[in-house]
Amino acid sequence: MTDEQYYTFIQPYADAKEILLARLNVLEHNLYGSSAAHPVHNIQERIKKKESIENKLKKNGKEPTMMNAKDYLRDIAGLRVICYFTEDIYSLADIIKFQSDLIIIRECDYIKQPKPNGYRSYHIIVGVPVYCIDGMEYFPVEIQFRTMSMDFWASMEHRILYKNKRDDKEQISKELKEYADALTAIEKQFAKYALT
Ligand code: GTP
Ligand code: MG
Repeated sequence: MTDEQYYTFIQPYADAKEILLARLNVLEHNLYGSSAAHPVHNIQERIKKKESIENKLKKNGKEPTMMNAKDYLRDIAGLRVICYFTEDIYSLADIIKFQSDLIIIRECDYIKQPKPNGYRSYHIIVGVPVYCIDGMEYFPVEIQFRTMSMDFWASMEHRILYKNKRDDKEQISKELKEYADALTAIEKQFAKYALT
């Protein structure tokens, strides 16, 4: 994949991400004044880099071509929505799921069922209609909904374990799992103050 091919390839994914981001921002404005005012702390966005696309395809035993990226990868465009409370995550996700022109490609609730390592987050892959001169096509965007503490844990775990090969991985994993549980307990305490 040349750089030029890459930039042409990712354009509609970036467009789909912008469309979905605008929808989420509209929701945030609509909810203003209701009891769940300002459910979102911040939203991060990213497009998968050329190298990451190629590496992920190779890891999955596929040739690193654009066609394979289109066929096999659903996380080329990503939004990470950081909320205050878990309840906000489900409210926002429900509203997105209710928008009839969007399609839900995949849903993974790692809040109700955290990963064994302690990772918590609510993932949905949304098919967003992108209209261009040739017509309409759905492009996938992965949304990761997290609370601030889920994001704190995941960012640290990603930094400490995911990126590094270390000899003390087992011990650290055990400790990180304990921190995940502690953060879940703290979050439950904060949730007591949430306006419902
Ligand atoms: P990927 O191939 O990594 O995209 O995983 P997947 O297709 O099996 O999907 P999954 O929903 O498990 O994970 C998607 C994304 O969630 C990852 O790319 C990470 O951004 C995040 N994620 C999943 N598991 C973990 C984890 O254990 N730790 C951290 N820090 N992030 C995770
Ligand atoms: Mg991914």
